[in-house]
Amino acid sequence: MATKLSVNINKIATLRNSRGGNVPDLLKFAIDCERYGAQGITVHPRPDERHIRYQDVIDLKPLLTTEFNIEGNPKEKKFVDLVMQVKPAQVTLVPDTLGQLTSNHGWDTITNKDYLKEIIAQFKEAGIRTSTFVDADLKMIDGAKETNTDRIELYTESYAKEYPKNKEDAIHPFVVAAKRASELNLGINAGHDLSLENLNYFKKCIPDLLEVSIGHALISDALYFGIENTIQLYLRQLK
Ligand code: PXP
Repeated sequence: MATKLSVNINKIATLRNSRGGNVPDLLKFAIDCERYGAQGITVHPRPDERHIRYQDVIDLKPLLTTEFNIEGNPKEKKFVDLVMQVKPAQVTLVPDTLGQLTSNHGWDTITNKDYLKEIIAQFKEAGIRTSTFVDADLKMIDGAKETNTDRIELYTESYAKEYPKNKEDAIHPFVVAAKRASELNLGINAGHDLSLENLNYFKKCIPDLLEVSIGHALISDALYFGIENTIQLYLRQLK
């Protein structure tokens, strides 16, 4: 199965915001990522707008020709309003809290079942595919199915952390979780700390992987290799 590479451009916005002007140009960067082969663009606007601003999301929509994925916490009304206005191809629901450095856990899909079910129905009615960020935990995968989400996004931080020590152990819970998701007919995305070092093994072990969203490592690699080459290197890992 082909796995799409969605480039998370939050870091480009962080760099731009650090000087207050429009360098680097986020919109141009996104279009260029697409030209260089990225099959999607991911943004994660947060209420403090410390990287992606709400206006960036609105400005990006008409320019993009690949899959637009907006991540965020739907418990913020402003986020829901933005997604409903922009109508991206996919919304990824992430349970992060205000001021959090980065996402650090998946949803408890059991405790939040009724809430998720309702918000997912709203997005799906608007024609937006939904993906729910979860840990590689069977209970949470089963819970996600109950919410009627189209896909799950497996939170890969633990995989990335364990990979250098023991890759077989690192991947094991993800193989089990992905198998269950496929049995339940849930699409599988993945993200967090995926890199040139660990991406290919993840792809090989999870044959049903539909999409990865990658930001931090990819943008960091681009400092050495340039963004065009870097995208090629990541695409090669997904073959
Ligand atoms: N998926 C989700 C839900 C995220 O919050 C993030 C980080 O914003 C990513 C994927 C990408 O993670 P990384 O920047 O480590 O590649």
